[in-house]
Amino acid sequence: MTWSNQEWWPELLRVDILDDDEEQLNPYGEDFDYAEEFQKLDLEEVKADIQEVMMDSQEWWPADYGTYGPLFIRMAWHSAGTYRTLDGRAGASGARQRLPPESSWPDNVNLDKARRVLQPVKLKYGRKLSWSDLIVLAGNVALETMGFETYGFGGGREDAYKSNEAVEWGPETEWETTDPERFEDEEVGDLKDPLANTVMGLIYVNPEGPYGEPDVEGSAANIREEFDRMAMDDEETVALIAGGHTFGKVHGADDETEVGPDPESAPIEDQGLGWDHDFEKAGMITSGIEGPWNSTPTMWDTGYIDNLLDYEWEPHKGPGGAWQWQPATEEEREDIEKAPDAQDFDESEEPMMLTTDVALKRDDDYREVLEDFQENPDHFQQAFARAWYKLIHRDMGPKQRLLGPEVPDETFVWQDPIPEADYETVGAEEVAELEDAILDSDLDRTQRVKTAWASASTYRDSDKRGGANGARIRLEPQKDWEVNEPATLAEVLDTYEEIQAEFNESRDDDVRVSLADLIVLGGNVAVEQAAADAGYDVDVPFEPGRTDASAEQTDADSFAPLKPKADGFRNYIGDGDYNDLYDTLEERMVDKAELLNLSVTELTALVGGMRALGATYDDTERGVLTDDPGTLTNDFYVNLLDMAYEWEPVDEDEEVFEGFERDSGEKVWEATRFDLIFSSHARLRAHADVYAAEDGEEKLVEDFVTAWSKVMQADRFDLE
Ligand code: HEM
Repeated sequence: MTWSNQEWWPELLRVDILDDDEEQLNPYGEDFDYAEEFQKLDLEEVKADIQEVMMDSQEWWPADYGTYGPLFIRMAWHSAGTYRTLDGRAGASGARQRLPPESSWPDNVNLDKARRVLQPVKLKYGRKLSWSDLIVLAGNVALETMGFETYGFGGGREDAYKSNEAVEWGPETEWETTDPERFEDEEVGDLKDPLANTVMGLIYVNPEGPYGEPDVEGSAANIREEFDRMAMDDEETVALIAGGHTFGKVHGADDETEVGPDPESAPIEDQGLGWDHDFEKAGMITSGIEGPWNSTPTMWDTGYIDNLLDYEWEPHKGPGGAWQWQPATEEEREDIEKAPDAQDFDESEEPMMLTTDVALKRDDDYREVLEDFQENPDHFQQAFARAWYKLIHRDMGPKQRLLGPEVPDETFVWQDPIPEADYETVGAEEVAELEDAILDSDLDRTQRVKTAWASASTYRDSDKRGGANGARIRLEPQKDWEVNEPATLAEVLDTYEEIQAEFNESRDDDVRVSLADLIVLGGNVAVEQAAADAGYDVDVPFEPGRTDASAEQTDADSFAPLKPKADGFRNYIGDGDYNDLYDTLEERMVDKAELLNLSVTELTALVGGMRALGATYDDTERGVLTDDPGTLTNDFYVNLLDMAYEWEPVDEDEEVFEGFERDSGEKVWEATRFDLIFSSHARLRAHADVYAAEDGEEKLVEDFVTAWSKVMQADRFDLE
C-alpha cells in the first residue's frame, strides 16, 4: 500500500485532525439524535439483560467464578480511565476502546472478550444504546450485582466511528517501552502535557512498578501524578484502586504459553479478537501477573484493604514471570484466607498484591486513607461510589447532558454548574436596548471582540468544559490569565457590569440580563459594525439565556488546564515554557481548533477575520496585515499571499517574522508562525486562496460570522 503524506513528511502539520465531523461520520445520519433514542430505553430491562450475559459463561472465554462482573468493571474503568484533564480528551464517551490504538493496547488485553460477551445487548438495542453507555453501564451493573451500591448512572455518551487522531498519546513507537520519552527529565514523574499515562499502551501506570521494577516509592509517585491528571485527589485515588481491586483477579499463571497478536494485527479469521491462546492448559493470560486480591473476589467488602494492611508483603517473580507481591512469611502465606480457583472451585488460590497496591500502603498519605477506610467501611463505600461516579461521568460536561432515571439529584462542582435563571431572559426589544447601551459606552470594538473571544474560546468539545456561559471570565483563574490581558479585561468587565446594573435596576418587571450574555452580545455587535464598515450588512445570531456562575460554583484549580499557553486566534505566543508534546505554534493552533470542533474552513475564516479586526494579544501589530484594522476585510489573506512581500524570521526561534517589500526592501509587516502557516502549508493555502480572491471577501465575512457564532454558542447545551 502506498505511503500517506504523513509518512512521506512526518513533520507535516496535521490539519486532517479537523476533518472528523462526528455527525458526518455517524452511520445513522446527521439528524440522528442519540439523546432522544436513549430516552426510549427501559433502563431496568437493559440492566437485566446485561446481568444475564454477565452470568452466562461462554465456552470460548469462560467466566471467572461464574461471572464476568470483575472483567466488566475493568473494562469500564479502562474505558473511562483514559480521560485526562489537560486537554479533556479520551474517556468513556465515544467507546474508542473498540477502535485502535486503544483496542490493541497491551493494557486492554482481553477486554475485546468483555465487549464480545456484551454484544447481544448492544445488538438488541441498536441505535438506542451506544457502546459508550453500555460499557459504563455494564461496570455499574457488575458492581451492583456484587453488593455495591453505586451513586447512579447518566447516559448520553455518543459513539465514535473513527479513532481520534487528535489525541496525543506520546512520542514512543514501542508499546510498554522501558525507555520512555514522555518525561521532562530522566526521573520518574514530570510527564509532558497533555499526557496522563506513564507508559505507552497502558491506561495509567505499570502495575509491576516504574520501568517494570518493584519500586513502591516510585510507583506511589507515578500513581499520584497520573490520578491527579485524571482529576482525582488522594482519597479518590485510594477509593478507586481499593474499590476496584476488591473484585476479581489478575491473570498470568504461565510464562510459556504463547499469546497471539493484538486484535489489529490478528488474522482475519479471528474476527477482531486478539491475544489468542490456549487457556485450557494454563489458564488465561492477561497481564502476566497471577492471583486474586482476597478470598471473596465477587463480593463487595473490605477484603482487599484488610489483606493489604494486615499482612506484610514481599516482592517475587510470579508464575507468569512478572513482579508481584506475596505475604512475607511462610506463616502468613499459610494464614491468609485463600480464594477459590477462578475455574475449578475445588481448588484454591493464594491472594497477591501488585506493586501499585503495596505503594498505597507504603505512602504515608495514601496509607492514612486506607486505614480510615478500614475503620469506616461506610466511608469507603461512599468514597468509592462518589469517585466511581465522577470517573465515569467526568468527560460528559454539565449535568444537564446526563440522561435517564438514575442520574442523582446532586450537582457536583466538577460538573462546572451554571445556575438556572430566577428571572426572565431578555427578548428582542431588550437586546436592541442593550446593544445601544454597549455602543454608547467607551468600550472599543477590538476590546469587545477580544473579551467575547476570551470568554467563549475556553470551550473544549472533548469534555464539554469551558465556554462563555457562566461568565467565568470574571472569576479566578481566568481573569488573571496573561492571554486575557488582565488589566484591560478588568476595565472592560467593569463597564459591562455598569451596563448590566443600569439595565437590571431600570426594570420594573422580571427581565434581567446576565454578564455572560452581555459579553457575547458586545462581541457580536462589534463583528456587525466591523462588517458594516467593510460594506456588508450582517446579522450575527444572538441567543440570550446564559447565566452567571459564582466563585463557589467554580473549582478554580480545575480550570487551570483550560489556560491557553499560546493562542493562534489572538496571536499570543506565550512565554515558550510549555513542557508539552507539541513542537510548533501552528500545531497548538490546530489542536485548539480541534478542541473547539472547528473545520479547516472555520479555522481559516476565524484567523483571517480576527486579524482584520485587530483582535491580537496586547494589541500587537503582528499578523494585522491591513491598513484598516477593525474592519472585517479579507486584507489578511490578500497581503499574506501577495508576492510583493518576502518574509524573514527575526531570530533563530523562527516564531516571529518580518515582511519586507521586495522592491524597496522596506519592512512593512510583522507576523508569527500562526500567520505564515496559512500561506506555507499547502492545504491551508488552498483555503487562503479562497478568501484572498477578488470574490473572497464576502465569503470570508459570511464564514467568519458562522464560525464566530459557533464558538460563541459552543456550550449552549440548553438550546439543544
Ligand atoms: C485487574 C492494574 C486501578 C479494577 C487489574 C489487573 C492489573 C491491574 C494489572 C490484572 C488484569 C488481568 O491480568 O486480568 C491496575 C493498576 C491500577 C488499577 C496499575 C492503578 C494504579 C484500578 C481501578 C479499578 C480497577 C481504579 C476500578 C475502579 C480492576 C478490576 C480488575 C483489575 C475489577 C479485575 C479484572 C478481572 O478480574 O478480570 N488491574 N488497576 N483497577 N482491575 Fe485494576
